[in-house]
Amino acid sequence: MNILFAAAEVVPFIKTGGLADVAGSLPAALNKGTTQVRVVLPLYKSIKEKYGDLLEKVTEYTVDLGWRNQYVGVFSLEHNGVLHYFLDNEYYFNRDGIYGFFDDGERFSWFSKAAVLLCKHVDFKPDVIHANDWHTALMNLYVADFAIGDEDYKNMKTVFTIHNLKYQGVFDADMMGDVMGIDIRYFHEDGIRFYNQINFMKGGIVYSDAVTTVSESYATEILDPYFGEQLDGILRKHQDKLHGIVNGIDYEEFSPSKDPHLYSNYDLRSVHTRKRENKAWLQNRWGLPTEGDIPMIGMVSRLVDMKGLDLVAHIFEELIQEDIQFVVLGTGDKEYEDMFRYFAHRYPEKVRANIHFSEGEAHQIYAGSDMFLMPSKFEPCGISQLISLRYGTIPIVRSIGGLRDTVEPYDREKQTGNGFSFTDYNAHDMLFTIKHALSTYNDKDAWKELIRRAMKSKNDWNASSAKYRKLYGNLMKK
Ligand code: GLC
Repeated sequence: MNILFAAAEVVPFIKTGGLADVAGSLPAALNKGTTQVRVVLPLYKSIKEKYGDLLEKVTEYTVDLGWRNQYVGVFSLEHNGVLHYFLDNEYYFNRDGIYGFFDDGERFSWFSKAAVLLCKHVDFKPDVIHANDWHTALMNLYVADFAIGDEDYKNMKTVFTIHNLKYQGVFDADMMGDVMGIDIRYFHEDGIRFYNQINFMKGGIVYSDAVTTVSESYATEILDPYFGEQLDGILRKHQDKLHGIVNGIDYEEFSPSKDPHLYSNYDLRSVHTRKRENKAWLQNRWGLPTEGDIPMIGMVSRLVDMKGLDLVAHIFEELIQEDIQFVVLGTGDKEYEDMFRYFAHRYPEKVRANIHFSEGEAHQIYAGSDMFLMPSKFEPCGISQLISLRYGTIPIVRSIGGLRDTVEPYDREKQTGNGFSFTDYNAHDMLFTIKHALSTYNDKDAWKELIRRAMKSKNDWNASSAKYRKLYGNLMKK
């Protein structure tokens, strides 16, 4: 079967968040046997600059967006055995940055329609179109619309994956006809109408044959108004086609035994000594006292509310009285950036704040820390906890969404679990859980076993890509 996988960001070409990691690793995992997967994404300026020489022009055509035809240039490049198509239109995408422009609605309508029309111009007829998040959600509406009069789309099935329900792509309803080229009959409460506007994500939910979220728990949570971001009603209506499939990570890219960013590579057998070496290296580099026994808590995160930073702010002063070191990497809201800068200044022997992003430093923190803190307010899947587990760094998480599905709380009696978790969004529950982890850390044997179970947790794409394949197959039978 042929799958066209569409996303607004794809590693290694362009990335702002976890969507890019998934779009950069799931297709390669699916692209086996009789399943052929190709990926389509916009040709952003930065991709043109970096990969321009490697791109091959395949063809060009135009799409009709209401009052005009817009150019589409198709370029391709194979990466990891997967053919990627890059759709070019300089008017829309020759800009610095990815999102946040006044005409994002128009830009991604253009992209979505162009991507659906791609099969008319290249030798690849998808059986299934798999769109991701609001940027590409409308592809599935276009397929449903074209299917009415065009044989090429009659049997095409569509999947839509919600990576984060919070970002929905809500725009002025005036855009429909003139800018998106969508008939007014889709503008109603059970269509893409959202109050008096249009909502791309809602379109993806309504017009796809199957909707998935990136963990099982999140698939249930979003049916509830608390997590539903005002779309819980429509999700409940379409509950029958909603599935949760947890994300994996690329075990080649995230591999402590091969990771080129690490001072000292390690595996299950060498983790105890080598983790200490990695920790000592970080301590040295960042001017923290080089003491192997002090537990180091790491955080690699966007510094925003969603990631639970207000909880951290609330108890940090109390937490840092413990005999610990705390290292953080990331950027985000100024309030939190300043907070960590302040604590690093106030406790230079205990806190290191790297308020920027660097892939290498991220890997070094995963390898050198003993624990990884991720107290998200909501978390569709979360990738950092999966990387932590793989690196033998014990996750301390809030038990929701994908965090709940991938981190099993430590049970001292049974000697099970691979991390620590708390349920209520409460700063002192979090603090208590961190303290529980710290006291367990002092029990060297228990901690070793925890690390072993963490590193043995299976979060590669094997199981989940099989689930996607099965879903595609079931749709094709319909
Ligand atoms: C979004 C979600 C995150 C998920 C990622 C990939 O960034 O917030 O939880 O892991 O998408 O699906």
